[in-house]
Amino acid sequence: MSKTFSTGIDPLSIALPSGIPYGSLTLLLGPGGVGKSVMLANLSWNFLREPKNAVVYVAFDDSPDALLALYNYFGWDVSRYVSEGRFKIIDCFSFRLGPFKKAVSGVVRELEVKDLNSLVYAVSDASSPTRGSTMVLIDSLNELILKFEVSQFLDFIKSFRAVVGKGLGNIVIATIHTTTETFQEIVNYLEYLVDGVIEARINPSLMEYGVPVKELLVRKMRGVPTNPVWVPYVISDKGVAAVDPQKLAAVLQERLKEAEKLKKLLSGSED
Ligand SMILES: Nc1ncnc2c1ncn2[C@@H]1O[C@H](COP(=O)(O)OP(=O)(O)OP(=O)(O)O)[C@@H](O)[C@H]1O
Ligand SMILES: [Mg+2]
Repeated sequence: MSKTFSTGIDPLSIALPSGIPYGSLTLLLGPGGVGKSVMLANLSWNFLREPKNAVVYVAFDDSPDALLALYNYFGWDVSRYVSEGRFKIIDCFSFRLGPFKKAVSGVVRELEVKDLNSLVYAVSDASSPTRGSTMVLIDSLNELILKFEVSQFLDFIKSFRAVVGKGLGNIVIATIHTTTETFQEIVNYLEYLVDGVIEARINPSLMEYGVPVKELLVRKMRGVPTNPVWVPYVISDKGVAAVDPQKLAAVLQERLKEAEKLKKLLSGSED
């Protein structure tokens, strides 16, 4: 079996008991607000606690400022890692800000991606000479999907996986919010190109009862065993955490009672 990183995130460990292999590229898919960015931050925080490990964060969706605020919210103070050169941000967001741009420590490169190869070079550059291992995070790929043609984008993913993942032996995780059909469609193309696919969602049947239970599924992870079941999780003040099954059962029972009451009321009003 390949050398792996044990994520230290309980719900993910259930689905992925041996962790994520080095030299791989994984997609983290899901709708907005489901916790993709928190999951990346949590994974990188756990990864950095291993001495010498480094993280390269490619930020498309938000400013480096907002990114560090997210880490701080969960009490993950990365400033020490920034000063050690172990936490590096490639800022693909702030080129739009002009004079409103803030200087943020940790940013090693600011980039407006006009050519996809420039991103492969920038990330290889930032992730090569480290003494430990490197995790590369991209949050998210949506902008690139919108900006480039499908064939160009797929080619980029192939190169990125080959050079930054396999070549440098890094763990690469990239998010896609899959809210619209355009993104769903591209995911179908991508799935066979990548090593891992993790999907997050709000359970649709429980949502009908007004209970928004987040859950994740590891659809594939090459080279390691997976438990392909939907595992519920919560975003707590400590990050991505497992759901207490007893609490969940109690909430569901409560909702079921309410739904039955409502059903009785409604059938009564029909008489
Ligand atoms: N800085 C923060 N402070 C407090 N809670 C937060 C913060 N960031 C995220 N959360 C909580 O975590 C949840 C998941 O947010 P997250 O940003 O990870 O979603 P996402 O899947 O990345 O969404 P998107 O596709 O829109 O980027 C939010 O709904 C919110 O409840
Ligand atoms: Mg996000």
